[in-house]
Amino acid sequence: MNIKIPNYYNDKDLILDEIWTLLSRSIVDRSEDFRLPVVIVNKNNFSDGRIVVLRGAFKEKRILRFHTDLRSSKIGALKTNNNIYFLFYNKKRKIQVRAKGVATIHYKNEIAEQAWKKTQVISRKCYLAEQAPGSISNIPNSGYPKELEGKNPLIKDTEIGFNNFCVIDSKINEMEWLYLASQGHRRALIKMDDNKYSTEWLTP
Ligand SMILES: Cc1cc2nc3c(=O)[nH]c(=O)nc-3n(C[C@H](O)[C@H](O)[C@H](O)COP(=O)(O)O)c2cc1C
Repeated sequence: MNIKIPNYYNDKDLILDEIWTLLSRSIVDRSEDFRLPVVIVNKNNFSDGRIVVLRGAFKEKRILRFHTDLRSSKIGALKTNNNIYFLFYNKKRKIQVRAKGVATIHYKNEIAEQAWKKTQVISRKCYLAEQAPGSISNIPNSGYPKELEGKNPLIKDTEIGFNNFCVIDSKINEMEWLYLASQGHRRALIKMDDNKYSTEWLTP
Protein backbone atom coordinates (compact mmCIF):
# COMPACT_ATOMS: atom_id res chain seq x y z
CA MET A 1 0.00 0.00 0.00
CA ASN A 2 1.38 3.40 -0.98
CA ILE A 3 0.46 5.87 1.77
CA LYS A 4 1.50 9.46 1.16
CA ILE A 5 2.90 10.92 4.36
CA PRO A 6 2.70 14.72 4.61
CA ASN A 7 5.88 16.61 5.51
CA TYR A 8 4.49 17.70 8.88
CA TYR A 9 4.00 14.07 9.95
CA ASN A 10 7.42 13.98 11.61
CA ASP A 11 8.35 17.65 11.57
CA LYS A 12 6.66 19.66 14.29
CA ASP A 13 7.98 22.96 12.93
CA LEU A 14 5.72 22.65 9.88
CA ILE A 15 2.49 22.15 11.80
CA LEU A 16 1.63 25.75 12.70
CA ASP A 17 2.05 26.96 9.11
CA GLU A 18 -0.14 24.14 7.87
CA ILE A 19 -2.87 25.14 10.34
CA TRP A 20 -2.80 28.81 9.31
CA THR A 21 -2.83 27.82 5.64
CA LEU A 22 -6.02 25.82 6.18
CA LEU A 23 -7.56 28.64 8.23
CA SER A 24 -6.73 31.30 5.62
CA ARG A 25 -8.01 29.17 2.79
CA SER A 26 -11.33 28.71 4.57
CA ILE A 27 -11.97 32.45 4.54
CA VAL A 28 -12.09 32.53 0.75
CA ASP A 29 -13.24 28.99 -0.04
CA ARG A 30 -16.73 28.03 1.13
CA SER A 31 -15.99 24.33 0.65
CA GLU A 32 -13.18 24.29 3.22
CA ASP A 33 -14.16 22.48 6.42
CA PHE A 34 -12.32 24.94 8.64
CA ARG A 35 -14.81 27.60 7.53
CA LEU A 36 -17.38 26.32 10.00
CA PRO A 37 -15.79 25.88 13.43
CA VAL A 38 -17.59 25.20 16.68
CA VAL A 39 -17.10 28.15 19.02
CA ILE A 40 -17.31 27.41 22.73
CA VAL A 41 -17.76 29.96 25.49
CA ASN A 42 -18.09 29.48 29.19
CA LYS A 43 -20.35 31.37 31.55
CA ASN A 44 -20.54 30.56 35.24
CA ASN A 45 -18.85 27.20 34.70
CA PHE A 46 -21.34 26.20 32.02
CA SER A 47 -19.91 25.74 28.52
CA ASP A 48 -21.88 25.80 25.29
CA GLY A 49 -20.91 25.64 21.65
CA ARG A 50 -22.29 26.67 18.31
CA ILE A 51 -21.16 26.77 14.69
CA VAL A 52 -20.09 30.07 13.16
CA VAL A 53 -18.62 31.15 9.83
CA LEU A 54 -14.93 31.97 10.12
CA ARG A 55 -14.56 35.47 8.63
CA GLY A 56 -10.91 36.21 9.27
CA ALA A 57 -7.66 34.39 10.07
CA PHE A 58 -4.77 36.79 10.68
CA LYS A 59 -1.63 34.78 11.21
CA GLU A 60 0.68 37.63 12.25
CA LYS A 61 -1.78 38.93 14.84
CA ARG A 62 -2.88 35.39 15.85
CA ILE A 63 -6.50 36.45 15.43
CA LEU A 64 -9.55 34.42 14.40
CA ARG A 65 -12.63 36.43 13.50
CA PHE A 66 -16.35 35.80 13.22
CA HIS A 67 -19.45 38.00 13.10
CA THR A 68 -22.41 37.72 15.39
CA ASP A 69 -25.51 39.40 16.80
CA LEU A 70 -24.81 41.55 19.86
CA ARG A 71 -28.04 40.26 21.41
CA SER A 72 -27.02 36.58 21.24
CA SER A 73 -26.27 34.57 24.37
CA LYS A 74 -22.59 34.06 23.48
CA ILE A 75 -22.07 37.82 23.92
CA GLY A 76 -23.46 37.70 27.45
CA ALA A 77 -21.12 34.81 28.17
CA LEU A 78 -18.08 36.57 26.65
CA LYS A 79 -18.76 39.71 28.68
CA THR A 80 -18.53 37.56 31.83
CA ASN A 81 -15.63 35.43 30.65
CA ASN A 82 -13.71 36.31 27.49
CA ASN A 83 -11.94 32.97 27.20
CA ILE A 84 -12.99 31.37 23.92
CA TYR A 85 -12.38 28.04 22.20
CA PHE A 86 -12.58 27.02 18.55
CA LEU A 87 -12.91 23.48 17.32
CA PHE A 88 -12.13 22.63 13.69
CA TYR A 89 -12.10 19.40 11.73
CA ASN A 90 -10.91 18.93 8.18
CA LYS A 91 -12.41 15.64 7.07
CA LYS A 92 -10.35 15.17 3.93
CA ARG A 93 -7.03 15.85 5.64
CA LYS A 94 -8.15 14.23 8.92
CA ILE A 95 -6.94 17.18 10.94
CA GLN A 96 -8.57 18.41 14.13
CA VAL A 97 -7.51 21.74 15.61
CA ARG A 98 -8.54 23.07 18.99
CA ALA A 99 -7.68 26.72 19.47
CA LYS A 100 -7.79 28.63 22.75
CA GLY A 101 -7.91 32.40 22.91
CA VAL A 102 -9.21 35.60 24.42
CA ALA A 103 -12.08 37.40 22.70
CA THR A 104 -12.66 41.09 22.05
CA ILE A 105 -16.10 42.37 21.03
CA HIS A 106 -16.00 45.08 18.35
CA TYR A 107 -19.25 47.02 18.29
CA LYS A 108 -19.85 50.25 16.38
CA ASN A 109 -16.12 50.89 16.01
CA GLU A 110 -13.81 51.06 12.98
CA ILE A 111 -13.38 47.27 12.80
CA ALA A 112 -17.13 46.66 12.95
CA GLU A 113 -17.76 49.36 10.30
CA GLN A 114 -15.20 47.92 7.88
CA ALA A 115 -16.57 44.40 8.32
CA TRP A 116 -20.18 45.59 7.90
CA LYS A 117 -19.31 47.34 4.64
CA LYS A 118 -18.08 44.06 3.21
CA THR A 119 -21.03 42.03 4.49
CA GLN A 120 -23.44 40.90 1.80
CA VAL A 121 -27.21 41.38 1.91
CA ILE A 122 -27.90 37.73 2.63
CA SER A 123 -25.69 37.89 5.74
CA ARG A 124 -26.90 41.33 6.77
CA LYS A 125 -30.46 40.03 6.79
CA CYS A 126 -29.69 37.97 9.95
CA TYR A 127 -29.20 41.23 11.85
CA LEU A 128 -32.65 42.52 10.88
CA ALA A 129 -34.46 40.05 13.14
CA GLU A 130 -36.72 42.00 15.48
CA GLN A 131 -36.31 39.74 18.49
CA ALA A 132 -33.01 38.65 19.98
CA PRO A 133 -31.69 35.29 18.80
CA GLY A 134 -32.85 32.61 21.24
CA SER A 135 -35.85 34.57 22.51
CA ILE A 136 -38.97 32.49 23.17
CA SER A 137 -41.79 32.66 20.62
CA ASN A 138 -45.35 31.31 20.80
CA ILE A 139 -45.28 30.59 17.09
CA PRO A 140 -42.71 29.14 14.70
CA ASN A 141 -40.85 32.17 13.42
CA SER A 142 -37.79 33.42 11.56
CA GLY A 143 -37.60 36.61 13.57
CA TYR A 144 -37.69 38.77 10.41
CA PRO A 145 -40.25 41.53 9.90
CA LYS A 146 -43.21 40.31 7.80
CA GLU A 147 -42.11 42.14 4.65
CA LEU A 148 -38.82 40.22 4.62
CA GLU A 149 -40.32 36.73 4.93
CA GLY A 150 -39.09 34.71 1.97
CA LYS A 151 -37.21 37.54 0.32
CA ASN A 152 -34.07 39.62 0.65
CA PRO A 153 -34.01 43.31 1.54
CA LEU A 154 -32.39 45.96 -0.62
CA ILE A 155 -28.91 46.80 0.63
CA LYS A 156 -30.07 50.32 1.62
CA ASP A 157 -32.71 48.80 3.88
CA THR A 158 -30.18 46.71 5.80
CA GLU A 159 -28.29 49.54 7.49
CA ILE A 160 -30.42 49.31 10.63
CA GLY A 161 -28.95 45.83 11.14
CA PHE A 162 -25.66 47.48 12.07
CA ASN A 163 -27.21 48.17 15.49
CA ASN A 164 -27.12 44.41 16.17
CA PHE A 165 -23.92 43.55 14.37
CA CYS A 166 -20.58 42.90 16.03
CA VAL A 167 -17.22 41.38 15.20
CA ILE A 168 -15.52 38.98 17.58
CA ASP A 169 -11.75 38.92 17.32
CA SER A 170 -10.04 36.18 19.29
CA LYS A 171 -6.35 36.36 20.06
CA ILE A 172 -5.13 32.78 19.98
CA ASN A 173 -2.52 31.68 22.51
CA GLU A 174 -2.68 27.92 22.21
CA MET A 175 -3.56 25.35 19.57
CA GLU A 176 -3.78 21.63 19.79
CA TRP A 177 -3.44 19.67 16.56
CA LEU A 178 -4.44 16.07 15.92
CA TYR A 179 -3.70 14.27 12.68
CA LEU A 180 -5.32 10.89 12.10
CA ALA A 181 -3.30 8.45 10.01
CA SER A 182 -3.51 4.69 9.57
CA GLN A 183 0.25 4.39 10.07
CA GLY A 184 -0.09 6.13 13.46
CA HIS A 185 -1.75 9.32 14.63
CA ARG A 186 0.14 12.48 15.53
CA ARG A 187 -0.71 15.12 18.10
CA ALA A 188 1.00 18.37 19.01
CA LEU A 189 0.55 21.30 21.35
CA ILE A 190 1.53 24.77 20.13
CA LYS A 191 1.87 27.67 22.53
CA MET A 192 2.32 31.16 21.19
CA ASP A 193 2.79 34.73 22.22
CA ASP A 194 3.74 37.89 20.34
CA ASN A 195 7.41 36.99 20.00
CA LYS A 196 7.62 33.26 19.63
CA TYR A 197 5.85 29.94 19.48
CA SER A 198 6.79 26.51 20.73
CA THR A 199 5.52 23.15 19.54
CA GLU A 200 5.75 19.90 21.42
CA TRP A 201 4.57 16.44 20.48
CA LEU A 202 1.86 14.81 22.54
CA THR A 203 0.86 11.17 22.52
CA PRO A 204 -2.38 11.01 20.51
C1 LIG B 1 -23.66 26.71 9.08
C2 LIG B 1 -23.95 27.69 10.18
C3 LIG B 1 -23.28 28.90 10.19
C4 LIG B 1 -23.53 29.82 11.20
N1 LIG B 1 -22.83 31.00 11.23
C5 LIG B 1 -22.99 31.87 12.26
C6 LIG B 1 -22.17 33.02 12.38
O1 LIG B 1 -21.28 33.30 11.55
N2 LIG B 1 -22.39 33.84 13.44
C7 LIG B 1 -23.34 33.57 14.38
O2 LIG B 1 -23.48 34.34 15.32
N3 LIG B 1 -24.11 32.47 14.30
C8 LIG B 1 -23.96 31.61 13.28
N4 LIG B 1 -24.72 30.47 13.20
C9 LIG B 1 -25.77 30.26 14.21
C10 LIG B 1 -25.14 29.80 15.53
O3 LIG B 1 -24.74 28.44 15.42
C11 LIG B 1 -26.08 29.98 16.72
O4 LIG B 1 -27.25 29.24 16.54
C12 LIG B 1 -26.45 31.45 16.94
O5 LIG B 1 -25.32 32.29 16.79
C13 LIG B 1 -27.03 31.69 18.31
O6 LIG B 1 -26.03 31.35 19.23
P1 LIG B 1 -26.08 31.67 20.77
O7 LIG B 1 -27.50 31.93 21.15
O8 LIG B 1 -25.55 30.43 21.39
O9 LIG B 1 -25.21 32.84 21.02
C14 LIG B 1 -24.47 29.53 12.22
C15 LIG B 1 -25.11 28.29 12.20
C16 LIG B 1 -24.85 27.39 11.21
C17 LIG B 1 -25.55 26.06 11.25
